[in-house]
Amino acid sequence: MLCDMMGLTMRALDLARTDGHATPQNVTGPFPKDHVNEGSNPCYLASEDEPGQRLEVRGRVLDAATGRPIPGAMMIVWQPNQFGRYENEDDSQSEDNLRGKLRCNAEGGFQIFTIRPGGYIIGREDTEVGVLMKRLGRNRQRAPHIHYRVMHSGYRTLTSQLYFAGDPANPVDCIFSTIDDHIVDAVPHPERDGYQLITLDIAIEAEPQQ
Ligand SMILES: [Fe+2]
Repeated sequence: MLCDMMGLTMRALDLARTDGHATPQNVTGPFPKDHVNEGSNPCYLASEDEPGQRLEVRGRVLDAATGRPIPGAMMIVWQPNQFGRYENEDDSQSEDNLRGKLRCNAEGGFQIFTIRPGGYIIGREDTEVGVLMKRLGRNRQRAPHIHYRVMHSGYRTLTSQLYFAGDPANPVDCIFSTIDDHIVDAVPHPERDGYQLITLDIAIEAEPQQ
């Protein structure tokens, strides 16, 4: 967490970037779960009674070199609820709430129905990192985001996040992870009342040939 909050993680990921056309990696954070059960595509991440602004995220997984869709890539997605709480740190949520695993279709497409997450504070004041951040006069605010990971044979696994354009917390995100490549527009959904829509194409890069 200290590396995250000092900006070292984002800097290291930037230095390790090898393909300018690929979606950049972003900080993994402490809460991924690869073992969640595979569900459907479309993926219904939020139950009907989950509070919050309804949101659809749809897009395709593409080959970074060719721009062609990659059929059948596996995605996991995880996010906090609208109050900025992940299910594993919040007894009021059911196990694996707001987590999903889905396989992209033959056109590389994915569709996720969820809610807009809230931002949150990291590095509690009673931890060493929290004390250090306070002494440095640094804030501990994380901008609202959704985590995702994309896995496919022959390709580098991508672990990244999306952020919401216009969110006031983006410029002050405490781990410096709200880079332009990861900020997306959530627009009024043209087909679904009460929903917002994010369109997101994700480009992953092939493993280098041996
Ligand atoms: Fe997070």
